Amino acid sequence: MSWKTVCSTDEVGEHSIKLFDVDGVSILVANVGDGFRAYPPVCPHMEEPLIESGICANGQLTCTKHLWQWDMRTGEPKGPAEKCMLLYEVKAENGQVLVNLEQELEYDFDEDDDDDY
Ligand code: FES
Repeated sequence: MSWKTVCSTDEVGEHSIKLFDVDGVSILVANVGDGFRAYPPVCPHMEEPLIESGICANGQLTCTKHLWQWDMRTGEPKGPAEKCMLLYEVKAENGQVLVNLEQELEYDFDEDDDDDY
């Protein structure tokens, strides 16, 4: 385990996302209302920065590029999304959000990303 402090719990408003840099690793933190989640900063579809293209609503994160959606709590795909979001282990302690940064999570974009978009 390699727990790193990412931000304070009041830095990310409810039902929103915010981007942080932790030791050179970009981490997207989401406040899902009753807790926090942390993901790699890009869309698993075509590497779009989710801080720019991501919209949070009704517990779902939508990438506005091609409308892939995920359950913000679980990272499970919704609708047309074909890949899950990766999630870091997260905990909130003493007003701080901590992420287990033992290993940077990255998507594999080498497979068939030659689709029609
Ligand atoms: S790049 Fe995000 S849905 Fe296509």
